[in-house]
Parts: sequence; C-alpha cells; structure tokens
Amino acid sequence: MKLDRPIVFGNWKMNGLRADGLALAGTLAERAVRLTGTLGVFPPFTLIHAVAQRVKDTTILVGGQDCHDKPSGAYTGCVAAPMLVDAGAKAVILGHSERRHGLGESDALIRAKFAVARASGLLVVLCIGETEAEYLSGERSKRLAAQLDGSLPVGIGPEGLVVAYEPVWAIGTGRTPGREEIALTHAEIRAMLGKRIVGGEAVPILYGGSVKPENAAEIMAIEAVDGVLVGGASLDARSFWSIYQAGGGA
Ligand code: PGA
Repeated sequence: MKLDRPIVFGNWKMNGLRADGLALAGTLAERAVRLTGTLGVFPPFTLIHAVAQRVKDTTILVGGQDCHDKPSGAYTGCVAAPMLVDAGAKAVILGHSERRHGLGESDALIRAKFAVARASGLLVVLCIGETEAEYLSGERSKRLAAQLDGSLPVGIGPEGLVVAYEPVWAIGTGRTPGREEIALTHAEIRAMLGKRIVGGEAVPILYGGSVKPENAAEIMAIEAVDGVLVGGASLDARSFWSIYQAGGGA
C-alpha cells in the first residue's frame, strides 16, 4: 500500500450513528476525488462496512480501531482482523492509549494482535506514547523504546506499518509538545525503528494528540512528521479536511 504524505487519519473513537457516519464519510468522499496524500477514517466497528461502501469510489482508506489477538473463536463481543477485512477495512489501529491505559492492554497483547492483523493483510497503525508522569520524569525515550520492543513482532519488515506517536497527556487535552520536541521525538522513534526493523527508517511516523485545524500546519511542517492521527477534530468534515489541506493535501 502506497502512503503518500501527508498521511491524515481520523480516529472516530466511540462516536457516530449510521446517519452521522455516512454524512461525514459522504462529505469527505465528495472532496476526495483525486487525493494527493493519504486520507483515512477509523469508524466504530458498526459503521465500517457502510463507510467503506460510501467511499468505495475514492482512495480514502477505512480502518478499524482495534482487533482481537485470535483470528476467530469463542470470544464473545470481540472482533477479529479477518472480519475487519471482510467489512471493507484496510487498516487497524493497535495500542491506542485509551486501550492501553483505559482497558489495561499490555505490549504482549498488542504484539499478538499485530501478528493477526498483519497475517490478515491489514496496515497496522501502532500507537505509542508516554504518560505525563513519564514525560515529566524524563522517561519518554525509555518508555517509547519499551513499547516498540514489546509490541513489534520479531522479524517483521517495514511495509504495512505506520507508527503514531501520541503522548497520553496530549490526547483530548488541547495540549501538545512544542515543535522541537515533536521533531526530536520523531527522530528518536525513527532511529529506534531502524534498529529494530531492517529498513525501519522508512516507516511513516504520525503525530497524534490535540491536532486541530489551528495547529496542523505547524505540526505537519516538521520534516520528521509524515502526518497526523486526529481524534476529536476528525468528527467534523470541514475540520478534518482543513487539517489534511494544512499538511499540503488536496
Ligand atoms: P485527539 O485524539 O485528537 O482528540 O486529541 C487523538 C487520538 O486519540 O488519536
């Protein structure tokens, strides 16, 4: 899968009924006739099929927000990677902080999910990020390295992987690290990926956490930032599209 810059992904989280999701997807589909970058939406499971149908004549990518670590079986209430593919998804977010911290997901569980997602042909958007306490105590790099070590399956290649750097303290708070900090952290993550994956320097790295139309241009002007993962601001078609345009997308 070719991922041209800017890569702008919208994580809808647990938002949207059919009418809202289809209206949002429909507005994006009308604008996204010939995309110069990569635009993707990650609706709740219940909307994946409908949204994928709505955007099928465009190159908008549709993904899931999570998958199970087994391809099928007796796991009540869970959704497996092959089911996401069957519904029209091409990608999946794994390791989002709302699952790591909110639901207690471990690196080992994320690694197991990663393996199934990869085997199903899904692009994996792997989220990593430090908590505020880790940030304040200067443990950011250590935390990010540990998350990569724990959640990247051994022996994988760089293809089919996107890393999203999302400081936990920046998600939904309106706060973001400064330009230099983002540049430095992305460069660190790139070096970490290069050490762990053959050709890993080529893996796109997104920034996520309180990206809005007002700060998107500044964040995406950073050379080490290949794009953004947007939460709240991706629920409004106009905001989401202006973030995409702020990164040079058309
Ligand atoms: P936010 O969320 O843009 O609402 O801060 C980002 C995310 O959780 O991916």
